[in-house]
Amino acid sequence: MCGIIGYTGRRSAAGLIIGGLRRLEYRGYDSFGVATKPDDGGIAVFKKSGRISENECALDDLSGHHGIGHTRWATHGIPDDRNAHPHMDCRDEIAIVHNGIIENFAHLKKDLEGRGHTFRSDTDTEVVAHLIEEHFSGDLFEAVRMAVKDLEGTYALLVIAGGDGRLIAARNSSPLVLGVGDGEMFAASDLAPLLEHTERVIFLEDGDIAALSPGGVEICHAGKAVTRGVERVAWRLDDVHLGGFAHYMLKEIFEQPQVFFETFRAPVSDAVAHAVSRADNISVVACGSSYHAGLTFAYLAESLCGLPVRVWQASEYRYYPPPLPGSAGAGLVVAVTQSGETADTLAALKQAKAHNLRTLAITNVPGSSVTRIADSTYLMRAGPEISVAATKSFIAQLAACMRILTRLCGNSFDEVISRAHIAIGEALLTDVSDAVAICASAASVFFVGRGPFYPAALEGALKMKEITYIHAEGYAAGELKHGPFALLTPDTPAIALCMPGATHGVMLSNIKEMKARGAPVIGVGVKGDAELAEVVDVFIPVPETEEVLQVLTATVVLQLLAYHTALALDRDIDKPRNLAKSVTVE
Ligand code: G6P
Repeated sequence: MCGIIGYTGRRSAAGLIIGGLRRLEYRGYDSFGVATKPDDGGIAVFKKSGRISENECALDDLSGHHGIGHTRWATHGIPDDRNAHPHMDCRDEIAIVHNGIIENFAHLKKDLEGRGHTFRSDTDTEVVAHLIEEHFSGDLFEAVRMAVKDLEGTYALLVIAGGDGRLIAARNSSPLVLGVGDGEMFAASDLAPLLEHTERVIFLEDGDIAALSPGGVEICHAGKAVTRGVERVAWRLDDVHLGGFAHYMLKEIFEQPQVFFETFRAPVSDAVAHAVSRADNISVVACGSSYHAGLTFAYLAESLCGLPVRVWQASEYRYYPPPLPGSAGAGLVVAVTQSGETADTLAALKQAKAHNLRTLAITNVPGSSVTRIADSTYLMRAGPEISVAATKSFIAQLAACMRILTRLCGNSFDEVISRAHIAIGEALLTDVSDAVAICASAASVFFVGRGPFYPAALEGALKMKEITYIHAEGYAAGELKHGPFALLTPDTPAIALCMPGATHGVMLSNIKEMKARGAPVIGVGVKGDAELAEVVDVFIPVPETEEVLQVLTATVVLQLLAYHTALALDRDIDKPRNLAKSVTVE
């Protein structure tokens, strides 16, 4: 959830670290901090609650060519200056930043306090600084190696000390990637802050401890020196720039035609093809928007390929009784996760493996944790997604799911899907202004659909609530009368996805029922649908195309509706309150 970055090299560290933290802010943004190692000795620290953009940073006091930084999403301790990272040992000689959770911190803290250590924060992280202090006698690498032996939980750690010239990195179940430059080295939670400096990266494994110096890195695992390969990342620097758009979310919405095209056309490895073609049933495990992509996959797989698919919220899969003996058959468990780091999704996948089920990951981030756990991986081609609200990664997940379906049921709808990027491009031109005017003043908004448009309604509601803070709920249209009807008033508009096909008639009836209870209805349907246009308050027409493509166009329209409503309400669109993009805690 938090973002960390470290640097050692010839450049001034503080400005570079602040720049990197700005790229990581989508991981958490309630406080931030930087520590550097000035050339004349000691450690200099600046940390503050709030966002980097809202604060003046006293960089002049942070000299040196060696440093670490952190942007926080609070778990232990409120987001204030004291709890902001970096955290220090008693003598202010060791500084650490941490992403993850130290589960046994309370016990460690009591023990360390008993041995005379003084704590200055409420965080779980601070125990690590004091533990390293206990073991430090000039060799920081060795002190970190000894300290992590006592830790239970998850961590990506970066550590510097006044008495050692190296930057130490340690990883256990939290992402950490090293960047290899010319006479400089970087470490970060993910690729985004590295792209402007280098395309050569090393993905650390769980249990690795690395010592970085400007000339290179030494990595140790289970007490032995190991070599990890240097990989080249295909992501471009343009991907992390706004490129003239007002927000990353809008930029990412407009990248969707290309993203769909590239993800659908991405090569399918033999391992993925084999896993998919052998499956006689699939369980999808996912969270948030990825869960909605899983629901769409299930509808399409069952209706087009006759393959049973069960979709799980990963957080529930973990605590559900294990599969009944013999019930899994040739089952495949598919983890859908943009980041590849969502804690619940990773845990669900590990659980599936523990039950000897075969596993496949659909993810956007090369080298992410899920790629190390799953038996095989389908890598989406969405590029880095910066806005906290998922848009292009959701469309890429649908592209990946549809690609897998073409493997499952032959290439019968390959030709239809090959027009998807055109349909998505046309949907981007949709005018949603009348609907925005209604939603922006609403107390609550309902999103309803049937069949494949039910997950699209759930996703539309999620986008609306995430970035506008308007209460929004997605419902299967038939369910609304089983309770939610009690809430319908002129202040609770409903967005109805009413596309041609088997559910068109019943959707029209549902719309009339909602209107009869006083709710204004915004209908999303195909151009020329006079019946729908007549019955709704606002009609949003999209170009007519095949049902499977209309799932995509409806999704795009609802993304635009949420974006423009948030814009009208002057919300912080790319960084909505209380959220983080990568949820690495349970
Ligand atoms: C967070 C994000 C969502 C995302 C969900 C799952 O809640 O804000 O946009 O859908 O995590 O993330 P994943 O990386 O596993 O797809």
